[in-house]
Amino acid sequence: QSTCTGVNERTFLAIKPDGVQRHLIGEIIRHFEKKGFKLVGMKLMQASEDLLKEHYIALCDRPFYSHLVEYMRSGPIAAMVWQGLDVVKMARTMIGETNPADSRPGTIRGDFCIEVSKNVIHGSDSIESARREISLWFHTDKLTCWAESTEHWIY
Ligand code: PPS
Repeated sequence: QSTCTGVNERTFLAIKPDGVQRHLIGEIIRHFEKKGFKLVGMKLMQASEDLLKEHYIALCDRPFYSHLVEYMRSGPIAAMVWQGLDVVKMARTMIGETNPADSRPGTIRGDFCIEVSKNVIHGSDSIESARREISLWFHTDKLTCWAESTEHWIY
């Protein structure tokens, strides 16, 4: 199972092509690390049209659907899985509103972008969506589940 609840809850986050192009990967990862969440999977990839259409299937009737798929195909995406208590909801709070104009300062979209059509990052909107999106983008057996204990670590 790719998403549990409690401290093992997982969400899917993707830094969109504009975020990658603008060198925001490090800053965004730092944000979630500082909050206390664990990065358990990550890959930089150019997503296929099929994958993106499936990812956004619930929006297929919206007027911006094809534009959204095209934008997401325009460059590499940093696809990630993050883990921690209430991570689905808290990551959405940290990301801000869909439209950067409605996003508060301190949120990712509030601080780093101005257009809804280039809003830097995607985050799953529910535990169900997270489960679906994680299994769409990752082979679950490729996700790392590392323990907090450092007893076997060098530092
Ligand atoms: S919600 O609540 O996040 O689901 O908001 P919603 O408005 O339904 O948006 C769903 C995704 O569509 C993207 N979006 C747009 N892309 C391009 N142009 C326009 N006008 C536009 N409006 C919404 C929005 O960023 C959401 O994508 P993700 O990847 O989840 O951020």
